[in-house]
Amino acid sequence: MKKASIAPSLLAADFGNLQQDVEMVNASDATYHHIDIMDGVFVPNISYGMPVLKAIQKYATKPLDVHLMIVNPDRYLEDFANLGAHILTVHYEACTHLHRTIQAIKALDMKAGVALNPHTNVMLLEDIIKDIDLVLIMSVNPGFGGQSFIENTYDKIKAVKEMITRKNSSALIEIDGGVTTANSQQLVDAGADVLVAGSFVFKSDNPTATIKNLKG
Ligand code: DX5
Ligand code: ZN
Repeated sequence: MKKASIAPSLLAADFGNLQQDVEMVNASDATYHHIDIMDGVFVPNISYGMPVLKAIQKYATKPLDVHLMIVNPDRYLEDFANLGAHILTVHYEACTHLHRTIQAIKALDMKAGVALNPHTNVMLLEDIIKDIDLVLIMSVNPGFGGQSFIENTYDKIKAVKEMITRKNSSALIEIDGGVTTANSQQLVDAGADVLVAGSFVFKSDNPTATIKNLKG
């Protein structure tokens, strides 16, 4: 049976003990560190920025999966490359010239991801799917951790999976928001490759075991 890659979201980490939480992820079965950058404009919340990412990078031993919830991401692509982002994901809704942005991310030697808000139809990816490395399907409205999973996500995963196969794309499908062990297996069965989990991991009694359980 296919196993998911897990990307714990540090948004739910203890920022007073960030090193400890990053090292927990290093030693776990997780594949990535998921980094949520929010600007208070694209989403109604501000998370953290470059200095905190720099601190994370210092201790992280797994690839950084950076999710930009910001307007005008083009202004900062080089900064995120310099901060060691392995995957850089921008929102479809925040990019007027998405194709240009994707090419710029790849020219900086990063993997390029595109995120879709819950209301954004997956068919809008038809003309870009072959150019990208990852599709991030938001399974909550972006901006906050700890929200409930939106059930329509399963249909979106299946539609993206069908598109990836039909277009011969190698993009991975990542799900972000409200992921728990109650839905992880069903998400993988629908076609998800990477599961992001924040609160479910960091608010659990044993985050290392929770990551293992999510992986399946
Ligand atoms: C939400 C972020 C998520 C968030 C997930 O806008 O993109 O990565 O941290 O948190 P949980 O797993 O608590 O829903
Ligand atoms: Zn995220």
